[in-house]
Amino acid sequence: MSYRICCIGAGYVGGSSMIVMADSCPGLQINVVDHDKQRIDSWNNLMAKDLPIYEPGLDEIHKRVLGKSLFFSTDVELYIKNADMVLITVNTPTKVNGHGAGEAADLTNIELAARTIAEFARGTTIVVERSTIPVRTADVLKGIFRKNSSENIHILSNPEFMAEGSAVQDLIAPDRVLIGGDDQRAIDELAGIYQHWVPSERILRTNLWSAELAKLTANAFLAQRISSVNTIAALCESSGAHIDEVTQAIGADHRIGHNFLRAGPGFGGSCFRKDLLNLVYLCHYFGLPDVANYWRSVLTINDWSRARISELIIKKLFSTLCGKKIVILGFTFKPHTNDIRESPAINICQDFLDEGAMLSIHDPMATIESIHQALSWQSPSSVTFNQDLISSFREADAAVLLTEWPIYLKLDWKLLSSYMRSPAWFFDTRNVLNRAELENYGLNLWSIGFGGIH
Ligand code: UDX
Repeated sequence: MSYRICCIGAGYVGGSSMIVMADSCPGLQINVVDHDKQRIDSWNNLMAKDLPIYEPGLDEIHKRVLGKSLFFSTDVELYIKNADMVLITVNTPTKVNGHGAGEAADLTNIELAARTIAEFARGTTIVVERSTIPVRTADVLKGIFRKNSSENIHILSNPEFMAEGSAVQDLIAPDRVLIGGDDQRAIDELAGIYQHWVPSERILRTNLWSAELAKLTANAFLAQRISSVNTIAALCESSGAHIDEVTQAIGADHRIGHNFLRAGPGFGGSCFRKDLLNLVYLCHYFGLPDVANYWRSVLTINDWSRARISELIIKKLFSTLCGKKIVILGFTFKPHTNDIRESPAINICQDFLDEGAMLSIHDPMATIESIHQALSWQSPSSVTFNQDLISSFREADAAVLLTEWPIYLKLDWKLLSSYMRSPAWFFDTRNVLNRAELENYGLNLWSIGFGGIH
């Protein structure tokens, strides 16, 4: 009989990581379970456009493995009962009520999953934490299993490091796979699965607590780099330095490296904010208030980065946006995803709306419904969604590039500016447009880390 894996949670991590695992390990039988029937139905639908998440390349692999080594079901209990290994990939959002609200991770879903496993798991079972969780969460699981199950259950921590938009590539060729635990045989069993497609030297083995803490730490360090570079971008704008040149110079130092040094309107996405808040909470919990304040400042700078962009655009447009039309290029938190969670576009657009602006929003992937949900505006004419980019520039006063979708790099700025009201402004918050070209046309361009009119 094939080795049976049950993955609890059919969200982003559960769905995409199990699809890639199934493709690399045809000998496994992988059941992804979730009580959300609609989500399970969408994963079971072979029509690519109906997959619950958009991730380049995922639909093809999904088609290849569905019904062969990978199955999606709402029968959570049955597949836990049959499993040799149970992976937990449920959501751990920030707590909104009670103790630790606004910072601590809400572990309700983790606890629920653990109680279900305790009730239904049979025989020796390996339970793997794959959700992003606070350090020492395995203590919670151990407590639940000890009191509620007489079976032999081993706990491992195996956090997922993939990023949205590049999930397939990240899963197929990860920088590392991290497995933490205290039972050597259990660690070897999970490592043996990854060895089907990941070189052994990339599989790191640690104790449980190191693996749990490493995921939060990785995200905190990545977020910290972005906050750091955004402060330097502002300094460049005031001092005459160019952010490109500064990051090129510092990135050449192999101890710093070139990645994750792009200045922008602030980081978004479902992880960085939530994980930093969680880290801040943990530092307080473990009696380290100064450390908590240090990591909190990464978030403070991110909030400042977003507000700074809104303020400077409003100022450049003569300190009033009342009745002015602004074209918004990009709404997702990064390109190649349809996800707008924590996108800086939300705060920046809301600031413009509060100033009385009329927005024409374009994004290749974000849905109108999700943008509707994220923004609130009084008058129906305040926001339009224009998929015809050219016509959206008619009578516009400014265009603001917020997400660096490749399509925006190929626009004919000279033509577009001819449709706009004079003086027309372009704001490049990602520093991706060809400054020399726009300068040549005599356009008003502000780019992050350069500032001014170029
Ligand atoms: C992140 C982590 O990268 C990933 O390892 C973890 O598993 C989940 O969280 P994700 O949120 O999908 O992944 O995207 P990421 O590529 O990290 O970008 C996050 C935000 O930072 C985006 O808003 C992006 O625009 C911004 N960013 C990134 C910058 O502003 N500058 C950069 O140089 C890099």
